[in-house]
Amino acid sequence: MSVLVTGGTGFIGSHTAIQLSQAGEDIVIIDNFSNSKPEVLGKLKTITGKEVRFYEGDIRDSAVLDKIFSENAIEAVIHFAGLKAVGESVEKPLEYYENNIGGTINLLEAMKRRGCKKMIFSSSATVYGNDNPVPFVEDMSTSAINPYGWTKVMIEHILESVCISDPEFSAILLRYFNPIGAHKSGLIGEDPQGIPNNLMPYIMKVAAGELPYLRVYGNDYDTVDGTGVRDFIHVVDLADGHVAALRYARSHTGVEAVNLGTGKGTSVLELVSAVEKVTGIKIPYEITGRRTGDIAICYADVTKAKELFGWEAKRDIDEMCEDSARWVLKNKIIL
Ligand code: NAD
Ligand code: UFG
Repeated sequence: MSVLVTGGTGFIGSHTAIQLSQAGEDIVIIDNFSNSKPEVLGKLKTITGKEVRFYEGDIRDSAVLDKIFSENAIEAVIHFAGLKAVGESVEKPLEYYENNIGGTINLLEAMKRRGCKKMIFSSSATVYGNDNPVPFVEDMSTSAINPYGWTKVMIEHILESVCISDPEFSAILLRYFNPIGAHKSGLIGEDPQGIPNNLMPYIMKVAAGELPYLRVYGNDYDTVDGTGVRDFIHVVDLADGHVAALRYARSHTGVEAVNLGTGKGTSVLELVSAVEKVTGIKIPYEITGRRTGDIAICYADVTKAKELFGWEAKRDIDEMCEDSARWVLKNKIIL
């Protein structure tokens, strides 16, 4: 039996493909390369030593999904494929609803036609909205403040409904906190197009000399140094969380939301210092106003992942910074 990885050439999907493959899972990938590059496939082969079974296609295309399900015995789907830029989702809401929600429904219909009843879904800490206290616990209320966030909230509800309608279905809603870092090989990592929106990719562009300085969005939050606090998690730890979730889904039915974070908060300036320490490169920054929609502090209660999956994050902030830097700065510094 095989595991279908949608969006498997993207940032988190590619790291998860490696961890699955190294855990002995047989994987099949579908991606439309809307936010990734074909080169990733060769790198996956170099790292795992195995040929990757890959279909270039869109999860909104039923024909390609039926082809995949007829050519492979798919036992479970790990579903990463989706659009993820918060700002873009505000400008193009219909594209986000159509791709993320429409794509997921199409995928669930293809699974239903073939009797495939296990899905691990990429949700986000964004579903905790702006009003819950930290640490975020899975049974807190969910909401969103932008179309991207609403797609995650709605897909969580869709999967819950599917599980109610079919008692044999297993859906795990993995709520990721802030994934950073990269594979130790330096061959794969996060590769955003244009000017990055997220903190670590932006810091790395400054470290690489491609952007002059970092804008720190606010230093008047009620936090350790006034800057925003996030639960950064190494992408390889996150990937291992999927291997553990898949094992859990094999012996359980019903829907479970599970946080994947470290349970520890790090401020924007603490992350800047950690990057400076491990790379020896000064990161110039300027304090600007708060970014609309940002919350002050976001970190996970990680009890449930440990109890249900026996999983917890192992890699610390320094390792995350070192691995991000090895990927981005590979031709510029030696780590
Ligand atoms: P990514 O953009 O690197 O990967 C997503 C992949 O899906 C890309 O390779 C893209 O080409 C593909 N894709 C998009 N739409 C598709 C479609 N219709 N058909 C086929 N392929 C399609 O993003 P990522 O950071 O790896 O995120 C993976 C998932 O995790 C996404 O659903 C994202 O919303 C979620 N998530 C990410 C973060 C984060 O900070 N990176 C946080 C929380 C949740
Ligand atoms: N920040 C800066 N300067 C930048 C970029 C970010 O100061 O150039 C700050 C932000 O204000 C925030 C922190 O760095 O305090 C982290 O910002 P990111 O954009 O890296 O991450 P967010 O926590 O805002 O958002 C991420 C994902 C979203 C997801 C959310 C919750 O990008 O998709 O986590 O899971 F919804």
